[in-house]
Amino acid sequence: MSNNEKWKVYNPRGDRRVVVTKELPGERWLEILMQAGCRVDVFTSTEILSTEEISSAIGERCSGAIGQLTEVWGDELFSVLEKAGGSAYSNYAVGYNNLDIGAATRHGICVGNTPGVLTETTAEMAVALTFSAARRVVEADRFMREGRYHGWLPTLLLGELLYGKTVGVIGAGRIGAAYARMMVEGHRMDLVYYDLYRNSNLEEDIAAYADFLKSRGEQPVTCRRMERIEDVLRVADLVSLHPVLDETTRHLIDAGRLELMKKNAILINASRGPLIDEEALVKHCRNNPDFRAGLDVFEDEPDLKPGLIDLDNVVIVPHLGSATIWTRQSMAILAAGNVAGILSGYPVWKRESVLPFLEDNPPEAAPSIVNSEEMGIPEYAG
Ligand code: DGY
Repeated sequence: MSNNEKWKVYNPRGDRRVVVTKELPGERWLEILMQAGCRVDVFTSTEILSTEEISSAIGERCSGAIGQLTEVWGDELFSVLEKAGGSAYSNYAVGYNNLDIGAATRHGICVGNTPGVLTETTAEMAVALTFSAARRVVEADRFMREGRYHGWLPTLLLGELLYGKTVGVIGAGRIGAAYARMMVEGHRMDLVYYDLYRNSNLEEDIAAYADFLKSRGEQPVTCRRMERIEDVLRVADLVSLHPVLDETTRHLIDAGRLELMKKNAILINASRGPLIDEEALVKHCRNNPDFRAGLDVFEDEPDLKPGLIDLDNVVIVPHLGSATIWTRQSMAILAAGNVAGILSGYPVWKRESVLPFLEDNPPEAAPSIVNSEEMGIPEYAG
């Protein structure tokens, strides 16, 4: 099948043309674009398109695009989009480390992302990885399937109890804070966190929960913001990573920092793979069999560093943090809303909750444009 045959065109007579580099879940997103008068060209294969292939799909006439975190949208693609008459792009993701926002702005392209619908979903995946690692769920499943279960034993596949211990969170933004709440409120863990900014909401909520526990005569939970990442790593029984990936956070967890962690600690990453020096992690897990890791993301996705798949003390899943039906459909609606909103000349939303965009009669605004100020897009005032 040639690449041309892998594209499906909706509303071929639309006045504007929008290129979408993967099929997205749900139907609402497509309706949003078509109602905004767009012809929509969707790449229907699961293959990852190269920069050249995306350029050729944009062609000479294209108003906007929705792209994926597996694609590099930098000077080259934004320049092609500008030349084709484009002014809007949305990542189908909340993270945008695959984009050069400066280049987009220089080429007059407004760039959207999809925050606010992945928070609990991604935090839940981090929790799922946490308990899979702590209680050796994947190893145990394999053990059963291999027919090795011959009866209950006092010493069979022992893991770690997390209840009442200390959880460390690095990066206490939306997802990190949601994960922290789940572990503190659900499992009575004390929280230590590192972030450049204090998360006062999180601290106040945990203090209120601690008061509630005290009022019932129970041991209160605690919350401390640490000065340094090292302080978190030293004291936590479990550490989950939630910072954005940029040049300051690449290999944030390296061999030296792994050494600081408890020998039986658990490390979770559902953020971005390059936060961890994966080669160093493989070595560390090999040398410390009681140390465990749960990874949703990898340094060179989709490739894994040699040795990772041989380790029983590492649980790995294929970047599924946001993979629930509701979240992925909602992300599609927000991405389409970003592109349709900019092409319709709407202002930008800039409010905490994007949920109104998922309802009937959504606001006449683009839900989330990360370079709105640089592009001079006014804020929604309705
Ligand atoms: C994101 O949105 O950044 C996630 O990694 C994928 O959903």
